Amino acid sequence: MERPLTQRIRPQADPMNLAEYEDTGGYEAARKAVQTMAPQDVQRLVTDSTLRGRGGAGFATGLKWSFVPMGLDAPRPKYLVANADEMEPGTFKDRLLLEGDPHQMVESMVVSAYAIQAEVGYIFLRSEYKRAARLLHKAIAEARSHGYLGRNLFGSDFSFDLHLHTSAGRYICGEETALLNSLEGKRAIPRSKPPYPQTAGLWGKPTVVQNVETLYNVPHIVRHGVEWYRGLGHGHEGGTKLYGVSGNVKRPGTWELPMGTTMRTILEEYAGGMCEGFSFRGLLPGGASTAFVTEEHLDLPMDFESLPRAGSRMGTGTMIVLDDRTCPVGFVRNLEHFFAQESCGWCTPCWEGLSWTERILEGLEEGRGRPEDLDLLTMHTRLIGPGRTFCALAPGAMDPLQSALKHFRADFERHIHERRCPWREQGATIGARR
Ligand SMILES: Cc1cc2nc3c(=O)[nH]c(=O)nc-3n(C[C@H](O)[C@H](O)[C@H](O)COP(=O)(O)O)c2cc1C
Ligand code: SF4
Repeated sequence: MERPLTQRIRPQADPMNLAEYEDTGGYEAARKAVQTMAPQDVQRLVTDSTLRGRGGAGFATGLKWSFVPMGLDAPRPKYLVANADEMEPGTFKDRLLLEGDPHQMVESMVVSAYAIQAEVGYIFLRSEYKRAARLLHKAIAEARSHGYLGRNLFGSDFSFDLHLHTSAGRYICGEETALLNSLEGKRAIPRSKPPYPQTAGLWGKPTVVQNVETLYNVPHIVRHGVEWYRGLGHGHEGGTKLYGVSGNVKRPGTWELPMGTTMRTILEEYAGGMCEGFSFRGLLPGGASTAFVTEEHLDLPMDFESLPRAGSRMGTGTMIVLDDRTCPVGFVRNLEHFFAQESCGWCTPCWEGLSWTERILEGLEEGRGRPEDLDLLTMHTRLIGPGRTFCALAPGAMDPLQSALKHFRADFERHIHERRCPWREQGATIGARR
């Protein structure tokens, strides 16, 4: 099985330095793109590859790039931003790539910047990722000193430089337009769209914001071609995907596998199944802001088109598992606490609604729940749902709640009837590992 994105990662050693990276074909894709291809040809390859964004929404990458103004009269400078904020609870895939192969980040930026003719790049990095920051600084410096960044790359008239920016540390900074405000030194609140960043982004100039994992795919598509890339996936969505599992499983972790690997395979073969004494109840397939799926859905492929059949989304592809010894009400309360805390406060349904949601769940968990609370929570999932707020934080926060009310309703009702959390006496705590 080919694992292009993680093939150079050496788990117990430091990542490859520039010489080692070059010895394994590093920067060949950048050379090939800049010396032998027109920018639009790179864009076309990425479109044909079926690559979709790995940051959560799954937007087609080639299509996104096609909105960037090209040609001599395009506004300049143009920007490329790698979204390395990765604050979605349960998501830890970009960190593996950044810490394991930082030169691949740099090369991915060069190739992608060439495709949209961006002159300047930023890596917007989660503040806690200190090791990644150190390694990226080193890789950028090495690349710059060897002519892979800077003026006239590979003897061409294409120039591109790259900067590392460390986030101030809020979840909303990962939303692409809030990220751009933050990069500009403004308050991190999402921008109204349109205009979209591709035409008016950073400092009003054309900008593409792309997830780290998305970008890591690009050099491989350029180097090995569309047919090879599409052949890596199990279904008609090509490539590989970094899948992750957290929760009470035997081997929590992240693995690069063919796109479309089933949830059951990931859970049982790679994560080793549930820990002794724990039974599976459900999982959030792609980080905290996706809807629960249950046992009956586990044979679905983990890809963008299949998960909606289970009423969910692939999101970031990193699963959070709920077991029978963890209270589903407490589990969801914990998530809503996070979302309420991270609301940027821009729209009322979000900053008012999320804290009320948390308070109702707190009441239920502490034995103060009333029968009408379940209707109230359902009403919240509608009022805070899609189309009612400025960005996707609030509707995303409703996904685990509305699906928990559907799949685990009897557990919510038990809290009301028994006027207590039935899990408390069993010594279970929210999201604890044994
Ligand atoms: C609240 C919120 C947080 C987000 N955090 C991230 C993040 O940490 N990393 C990321 O790549 N995308 C994040 N996104 C999605 C970005 O807005 C954007 O869609 C993504 O960076 C685009 O890249 P892609 O097309 O490669 O997926 C977030 C979205 C929202 C609403
Ligand atoms: S939905 Fe929440 S996080 Fe998003 S803009 Fe509105 S208040 Fe801010």
